[in-house]
Amino acid sequence: MAGPIDVGAADGVLTMRMNRPDKKNAITSAMYAGMAEALDRAASDDAIRCTLILGVPGAFSAGNDIADFLAVATSGQRGSMAVFDFLERIIQAKKPIVAGVDGIAIGIGTTMLLHCDYVVASEASSFKTPFVDLGLLPEAGSSLIGPRLMGHHRAFALLAMGETFSPQQAMEAGFVNRVVTSAELEAAASAAAKAIAAKPPEALAQSRDLIRGDRADVLARMREEAELWKARLTSNEAKQAFLAFMAKGQQKKA
Ligand code: COA
Repeated sequence: MAGPIDVGAADGVLTMRMNRPDKKNAITSAMYAGMAEALDRAASDDAIRCTLILGVPGAFSAGNDIADFLAVATSGQRGSMAVFDFLERIIQAKKPIVAGVDGIAIGIGTTMLLHCDYVVASEASSFKTPFVDLGLLPEAGSSLIGPRLMGHHRAFALLAMGETFSPQQAMEAGFVNRVVTSAELEAAASAAAKAIAAKPPEALAQSRDLIRGDRADVLARMREEAELWKARLTSNEAKQAFLAFMAKGQQKKA
């Protein structure tokens, strides 16, 4: 698959790399579609035992593309959004998912990690979800998984206050397993994915199902958040925040 999502498979691992470095891996609709397609491939190919999600050096992802948001906000067309197709798949993925995070993980760059099974982060990583500052609200089921995982106070700081978490804080919060140097990151994440892929698949699948539990409530919450989110995208608060971000970029260039 060409374009900003690079997909490859080796040793039972399907690797999907967000690869849009000039925009810090801000994720467009086309990229969400590519990621959903990659997860479909992982699901349907018996040779794939594990999915590995990577970004580029310094940018796991800057989150949803704000220009895409602005287009929705100004057109008022809420419709179906590719992001939600991707979320449907990652929440219901039957095979383990590993992520390797270097640099910024913003918005969905952080919340998608809550659906991974093993996360390696570099010392240069940082985690932030500025949803409320953008006039939005937590997505990806994070309003349910976040407090379950890290307790109300930390979830509030991350998801409502938009505080930046260091890799250490992310590890303490429970959504990062290991912190390594940036130079070690991809090898460490890849080694974890390969180790998972080498395990007896049936026993691993049953174990994972038991450990993760039924995700029906997470799926239902994600869909509930999605409806609220679509409405918030066209709110005046959100529109102003998106315009302010775009104007900052223009000012930098002037
Ligand atoms: N959507 C669209 N474009 C984005 C983007 C996003 N989420 N994040 C970064 N970009 C673009 C910038 O507009 C800029 O484009 P340009 O070179 O054409 O002007 C380019 O990526 C580089 O970003 P820049 O802001 O110049 O880099 P920086 O190192 O100063 O800051 C960030 C990086 C990620 C901290 C900053 O870009 C940012 O805050 N982005 C928005 C993050 C966000 O709120 N995401 C949505 C979460 S729901």
